[in-house]
Amino acid sequence: MKIGIIGAGQIGASLVRQYAKAGHDVKMTNASGVEKLRALESETGAKAVTSGEVVKEIHVLVISIPFIEISKLAKSLGQDISDDTVIIDTTNYYPIRDGRIDEIEHGMVESVWVSNHLSRPVIKVYNSILAGSLVQAGLPGGSPSRIALPVSGDDEQAKRIVARLVNDSGFDALDIGSIQDSWRQQPGSPVYCTDLNSAQLKRNIQLVQKDVLPERRELALQFILKQDPVQYLAWSRECVTNNRIVFKTDINE
Ligand SMILES: NC(=O)c1ccc[n+]([C@@H]2O[C@H](COP(=O)([O-])OP(=O)(O)OC[C@H]3O[C@@H](n4cnc5c(N)ncnc54)[C@H](OP(=O)(O)O)[C@@H]3O)[C@@H](O)[C@H]2O)c1
Repeated sequence: MKIGIIGAGQIGASLVRQYAKAGHDVKMTNASGVEKLRALESETGAKAVTSGEVVKEIHVLVISIPFIEISKLAKSLGQDISDDTVIIDTTNYYPIRDGRIDEIEHGMVESVWVSNHLSRPVIKVYNSILAGSLVQAGLPGGSPSRIALPVSGDDEQAKRIVARLVNDSGFDALDIGSIQDSWRQQPGSPVYCTDLNSAQLKRNIQLVQKDVLPERRELALQFILKQDPVQYLAWSRECVTNNRIVFKTDINE
């Protein structure tokens, strides 16, 4: 597949590596200029291009930039992106980084906000795995402990294409519904960065409660900012196991 990736940071660069390794034709861009991407270009064979070029003649566009940058990106996406191009949204809203966005604070689903700003449908995936796990925890298909990632969107064919890419990157894909349903995989959910396999993800996705997500997101952030994914995982599993804050289930089966 021909893939363009906007944002070559922790998540975007991992996807560049994984897609290139799987044999896809990848190009990428960033905010501060392609010179910064030369090492990744040499390492992977993916091409570093301008933001105008990255959207041209591709099957899939991955957007992996800070959430608030989406509103700027919308202006520059332009006419060069084909109507058939599938757009993957990896972003998450963190008010401490992105500032307060009233529509989201009043309940708008994050990827609905993204889709509205881009005036394009999006498929949400890769938002719910920490960069460390994305880099290190991929496994071949069929491994029992393979991590599964929730995928949301309104276009069934687009979700099938995205599921193939998720598989190529080392993870199972679980279709959890429409883009309106994608709040279930937002920060604060018990499927957010908890590295669940497919069976665990299927069960926990049913347990998410929308009204507690912001509170849990802020708690989750305390761990993530300490760059301590092991502690975060222990905290999140303990919340789920002991019904702390909201969830009652044992994910260790
Ligand atoms: N880190 C995680 O563990 C994680 C996990 C799941 C989801 N996410 C979400 O995924 C998104 C990316 O996260 P990240 O951690 O990969 O971010 P990051 O490491 O800060 O990288 C962001 C990338 O986006 C580029 N960028 C910023 N604004 C841009 C614009 N307007 N146009 C083009 N490129 C732009 C940056 O370019 P420069 O380098 O040139 O500045 C950089 O390459 C965020 O929304 C984040 O919340 C992150």
